[in-house]
Amino acid sequence: MARHLVTSALPYINGIKHLGNMVGSMLPADVYARYLRQRGHEVLYICATDEHGTPAELAAAKAGQPVAEFCAQAYETQKEIYDGFGLTFDYFGRSSSPQNAEITQHFARRLQENGFIEERDVRQVYSPVDGRFLPDRYVEGTCPHCGYDKARGDQCENCTRVLDPTDLINPRSAISGSTEIEVRETTHLFLLQSKLQGEVEAWIDENSKEWPLLSTSIARKWLAEGLHDRAITRDLEWGVPVPADTWPELAAAGKVFYVWFDAPIEYIGATKEWADAAPAQGADGETRDWKSWWYEAVDVRYTQFMAKDNVPFHTVMFPATQLGVREPWTMVDYVKGFSWLTYYGGKFSTSQQRGVFTDAALEILPADYWRYFLIANAPESDDSSFTWEHFAGTVNKDLADTLGNFVNRVLTFSAKRFGETVPAGGEPGEAEEKLGAEVARLLVELEEHMETLQYRKATNALRALWSAGNAYLVEKEPWKQVKTDQDAAAVTLRTAMNLIHLYAVVSEPFIPASAATLRGVFALDADTATWITPEAATSLDAVPAGASFSVPPVLFAKISDEDLEGFRERFGAGSVD
Ligand code: 2FM
Ligand code: ZN
Repeated sequence: MARHLVTSALPYINGIKHLGNMVGSMLPADVYARYLRQRGHEVLYICATDEHGTPAELAAAKAGQPVAEFCAQAYETQKEIYDGFGLTFDYFGRSSSPQNAEITQHFARRLQENGFIEERDVRQVYSPVDGRFLPDRYVEGTCPHCGYDKARGDQCENCTRVLDPTDLINPRSAISGSTEIEVRETTHLFLLQSKLQGEVEAWIDENSKEWPLLSTSIARKWLAEGLHDRAITRDLEWGVPVPADTWPELAAAGKVFYVWFDAPIEYIGATKEWADAAPAQGADGETRDWKSWWYEAVDVRYTQFMAKDNVPFHTVMFPATQLGVREPWTMVDYVKGFSWLTYYGGKFSTSQQRGVFTDAALEILPADYWRYFLIANAPESDDSSFTWEHFAGTVNKDLADTLGNFVNRVLTFSAKRFGETVPAGGEPGEAEEKLGAEVARLLVELEEHMETLQYRKATNALRALWSAGNAYLVEKEPWKQVKTDQDAAAVTLRTAMNLIHLYAVVSEPFIPASAATLRGVFALDADTATWITPEAATSLDAVPAGASFSVPPVLFAKISDEDLEGFRERFGAGSVD
């Protein structure tokens, strides 16, 4: 059996992530990791904060904190939110870790030895007032093409033309606003990606056959445009230092690696952090051998999750780095890319604070509500839109009416008529046989969609499983049966309780907290969330007559019109500014 390595694109350290970030990387990865664990696979699910780069430095400066301190704090804040969402990372690391620095430097040395790195002199904008070189996007000025006066040095937002900072009329620093701008010469390391084009192409041909179209089309587009040599160092204070043993002069000049060079390596770095965080033998006796996941790991299947803007880095650039290193590091087997989640059709925006951010989401409603809505509406092939109306409608219909109501009706009614043990008596008949077959069929469907990472389809199958319970109740009407035939009512309620037990298992990857509550309904010995086989689903008898149960509190509160109005008001529904 394969061991499964799962990673989510690393969230930038600066700022709280919004729901679009959540659904485009971490949440689907968690759903998949949970599912695989239920199926008995060995899983390692890794994520980390992406801490280097100019945005982190600027955010720290804005907060009036040294960057290391800022990152340490922001890391804790993010980690707490992800715990709140029920994300089950095996390790949530930090790209500023010594482990990442060590592996990043190793990769760079190997690339150098193999002839894929070259020193080149470049001319770059320098701001004496800021005391730093300015990355292209931090130079602002007037667009020479359309006259827009807030054009960025990398691109004009108004006419979308790609720019060079030296094209701008009246350039100024976007950080301080200073117009005292110079162009200085500086030396950087360049990764000669052009030399690796053929190998990357061959690797994609060989490995991307099953990837979703979104991932392959982006990879192909980048390859078609040709791989260009890229500067992989920067003149910044905060980053992985260029190793002095290999580049003494550049190291002395304080060069660090570019954030996109060290970030994907942190998938490996964080795995080493995971291993280093525990004694070689973990408390549960597990061996934390980071290298066995990443080096000569022939039995590892590696799945990555990310939004589409990250796809080029993961399908083309990082593979180029890995191929150039000429060592057998684990390369990705499956790249699950996502389109955008929009907020009323417009962009979620971190800089403009438009949309719903993950901290605020957890303040107003439990994580399962968000998890369910987001996965059910995952932007898999096209963008999908978040609206409060759609969200409330989905929660009320699927979670409260379909699942919650079923559970509550069955357990309350049975407790009232038969006491708090699963009713005995009667034999299952045709209706139960039909239900069992339907449940088994839907379970296989759910499995198929989970195996192929099709989240919307998987959620449809899950919802259909919940609905099958309601349809069965409507057909059998135990509240009528009980008046004339106690045994018949007992069969219905016992079968329905078995459905609840099945729901507790199969809903777990999607709504883990509610699933845990459901599992707690029955005090079964040695009951685990292990996946149910279609055979067991057909017979619906895992929970035997006589087992005791308890009626849980209402699983999902409905979102009222008043709540909805409050949310719309607080979050500015539909406002596009
Ligand atoms: O786009 C982003 O949010 C980046 N921080 C993703 C980095 S993924 C990686 F390779 F580490
Ligand atoms: Zn323009």
